[in-house]
Amino acid sequence: MEEAVRNSATGTKPLLRVLERERQKIPPLWMMRQAGRYLPEYRAVREKAGSFLNLCFNSKLAAEVTLQPVRRFGFDAAILFSDILVVPLALGRKVEFGAGEGPRLEPLADGEALAALRESIDQEMLMPVYETVAKVKAGLDSKTALIGFCGAPWTVATYMVAGEATPDQGPARLFAYRDPDNFQKLIDRLVRASTDYLVGQFNAGAECVQIFDTWAGVLGPKEFMQWCIEPTAKIIKGLREQVPGAKVIGFPRGVGFQAWSYAKLTGVSAVGFDWTFDREVIAEKFQSELPVQGNVDPVALLAGGAALTREIDDVLKTLGKGPLIFNLGHGILPETPIAHVEEMLKRVRG
Ligand code: CP3
Repeated sequence: MEEAVRNSATGTKPLLRVLERERQKIPPLWMMRQAGRYLPEYRAVREKAGSFLNLCFNSKLAAEVTLQPVRRFGFDAAILFSDILVVPLALGRKVEFGAGEGPRLEPLADGEALAALRESIDQEMLMPVYETVAKVKAGLDSKTALIGFCGAPWTVATYMVAGEATPDQGPARLFAYRDPDNFQKLIDRLVRASTDYLVGQFNAGAECVQIFDTWAGVLGPKEFMQWCIEPTAKIIKGLREQVPGAKVIGFPRGVGFQAWSYAKLTGVSAVGFDWTFDREVIAEKFQSELPVQGNVDPVALLAGGAALTREIDDVLKTLGKGPLIFNLGHGILPETPIAHVEEMLKRVRG
């Protein structure tokens, strides 16, 4: 029975098979930020939508840009087009994306500002995102998986506290050192919000999710445990209470060997690695325990040529012997030539 349920859920989608710990002869491939500015068809829709957030909340256009890279390249997965910062928006914070700049939020500087936050996300506001998920699902073939996502509480908190991208996430670290009780409250709020948000995505048709912890690497070991591992573990536990067996890829960028405790303690189904991590170590220590994702340097993809070939071959040679989801070690850069993406696909599949 369980077997039948499992098979009907995962079917023949290679990416979902890998998340079941089954190595695929040709590793499934997708790219973080695969829907984005390096594609002319994305830029055209983005212009039509007006602002970035308009695009995120227009399910017809968001579904279109989600499907664009899948249509063009035949990736093994579509990733929902949205942003990690719709969660603070749905908790009642102001969030803006200016043309050509990073995000701007009203900074959440102290414990008092917590009073202005909603207890839970405004699900009504997020309905268009769930509609995007459903539309994309309807547009995918039987081989292509649909990935939902959220930001990890720590990474989302860094933007909420600073109000913008910062080089070292100093403002959030300062808040956490000065006022750990209130920082914990903020993280707890984000744990609940993220859990509800991921459940909503699964209910709408997502088949697995990725938790982006882009700024996990700025924390010391104790802080990493408290602000990244514990909250992520709570999200995954809460999610699986409502979506039994939910598959989750964790992406704790830049954490080095602390990825080990992350893999052991959070309950993730697979770990995504950035390009700085030694691939031999990933293969020996991690891949014997769980599937891995990664980890071509996005700058090597930008460079193309011999450097890209070397990087791809190294991932395939070192990680191709076990369950692998082929990906970049972070998002594709907007200036990347499309021909380099085509080359990468050809090499991995050839
Ligand atoms: O991967 C995908 O194709 C799905 C869509 C997606 C976006 N953002 C679209 C986006 C996903 C998964 C994200 C996640 C996200 N958003 C993260 C975590 C992953 C990472 O890249 O580190 C973070 C930190 C954010 C917050 C965010 N959104 C920033 C800092 C910026 C500005 C920097 C930039 O690249 O412009 C964004 C904007 C954003 N999110 C764009 C896209 C396609 C570019 C905006 C535009 O098109 O004008």
